[in-house]
Amino acid sequence: MLTDKKLYIPEHVGIIMDGNGRWAKKRAMPRSVGHTYGARTFKKITRYISKCGVKYLTLYAFSTENWKRPLEEVNALMKIFRQYLIDSLTDFREDDIKVNFIGDRSAFAKDIIDLINETEDVAKNRKGMQLNIAMNYGGRDEILSAVKALCTEAENGSIDVSAITEDDISRRLYTSGQPDPDLIIRTGGEHRLSNFMLYQAAYAEFYSTDTLWPDFDEEEFDKAIIEFNKRSRRFGGV
Ligand code: IPE
Ligand code: IPE
Ligand code: MG
Repeated sequence: MLTDKKLYIPEHVGIIMDGNGRWAKKRAMPRSVGHTYGARTFKKITRYISKCGVKYLTLYAFSTENWKRPLEEVNALMKIFRQYLIDSLTDFREDDIKVNFIGDRSAFAKDIIDLINETEDVAKNRKGMQLNIAMNYGGRDEILSAVKALCTEAENGSIDVSAITEDDISRRLYTSGQPDPDLIIRTGGEHRLSNFMLYQAAYAEFYSTDTLWPDFDEEEFDKAIIEFNKRSRRFGGV
């Protein structure tokens, strides 16, 4: 366990959970099977990360661009989300994990929206790690919403355009009030953000592993933290 190793534990970790499809393909199974196994990893690793002392965890589950996938795959993902949400109502209770969804939930079916709201509601008074699940999330879409909110406030006179600060933008993002991610982990071997936390990731450390998401485990998370501890974060200074 990481906590025995006297390592600095990042306050906010983001994970781009990629590689479910390739994991299934390697086993000659449909991509949806990869997503089912990916959902298991999701639960297991969330608990472990919370036990490690991380305060905020943001998991990228479905992007604003993922609707482009074949309908069959999107439908399979929605079915997995439904089951995941039902399980989440009771899961994480003993770990005191607070669950919050980021992204435009209005695009989902009504029963999924109801489950999202209910899941947030039952967990709202918990004091442990804050888990952000990014669903129909896009960094550009998030920035666009913040810009629109600021424009509306400028139009009605509640904000002075010349006085708008970076913090004013941060406060209008889905992660309002949360620290920026210190570490972003991407599984599946790609070296890109794919529209994840574009504004918040300005000084995040990026860690990519070839391990496909369904195979990601405690040991893999420890490796990322060990690597993070070797980085020198200068934030533009010396
Ligand atoms: C990530 O795995 C899960 C989602 C984007 C929903 P992928 O489905 O992108 O898996 P690969 O990258 O095709 O292997
Ligand atoms: C990023 O994975 C989105 C999620 C993990 C939810 P993608 O598989 O959609 O990203 P690209 O297409 O490889 O950039
Ligand atoms: Mg992918």
